[in-house]
Amino acid sequence: MKKVYIYKKFERFWHWTQAALIIFLALTGFEVHNSFTIFGFEQAVFYHRIASYMLLILIAFAIFWHFTTGEWKQYVPTTKKLKEQIRYYTKGIFKGEPHPTKKTTLSKLNPLQILTYLAFKVILVPLIVISGLMYMFYKTIDKNDVVIISGYELKTVAIVHTVGAFLLITFLIVHVYMTTTGHTPTSNIKAMITGFENLEEEDKENSETENKKNSITEK
Ligand code: HEM
Repeated sequence: MKKVYIYKKFERFWHWTQAALIIFLALTGFEVHNSFTIFGFEQAVFYHRIASYMLLILIAFAIFWHFTTGEWKQYVPTTKKLKEQIRYYTKGIFKGEPHPTKKTTLSKLNPLQILTYLAFKVILVPLIVISGLMYMFYKTIDKNDVVIISGYELKTVAIVHTVGAFLLITFLIVHVYMTTTGHTPTSNIKAMITGFENLEEEDKENSETENKKNSITEK
């Protein structure tokens, strides 16, 4: 095993800030939805708006970071070892079998994680963000103080946004469980806090092919 710097500073900042904002948006959003009372309706609406602006800024920085560092390449889907990975999570893990894929700095995600995180980034987050913005700008006031109502149904937007919220919460619960399936139950979480993780040493052949495939810069 070798101690490897796997999660860079911005990546850790983005990860934890995004997690905190999503949990806060879920709390305030479900209060708006009338599921419970914590802040009071008016305050919940206000906080939900502020947190959603913060999330939009964070997402803009994260997109920039993914493309300028080349980290987007980590999310190119592959079917290589996908079956083995599904078999591992459904059977092998309960028998103490070794992980079918090795984690390296240039290939941090297993094929199932790639598919899940890609769906999170290109389907789930856009779904909640776009429906949220449509919710927000349903009613606007133009420069002559005339109230403009958009041409879509608010009810549909609210339903799509709420479905997105439930899907995000489901993702969060499964994601937290999956983080406990590393070398030890807390090794993945510690790595996302400190940046460092103990990984199996890369064999030469493996790391050479990875190096050819990727050109991810250290940022
Ligand atoms: C950029 C992201 C988001 C934007 C722009 C946004 C925007 C909005 C807006 C405008 C509303 C109506 C209340 C209000 O006027 O403030 C709302 C409601 C709500 N939001 Fe969000 N939101 C976002 C992210 C989230 C996230 C991440 C969650 C949960 C994980 C969430 C859950 C909810 C729920 C459950 C409601 C109540 C829906 C209803 O019952 O009508 N939102 N959101």
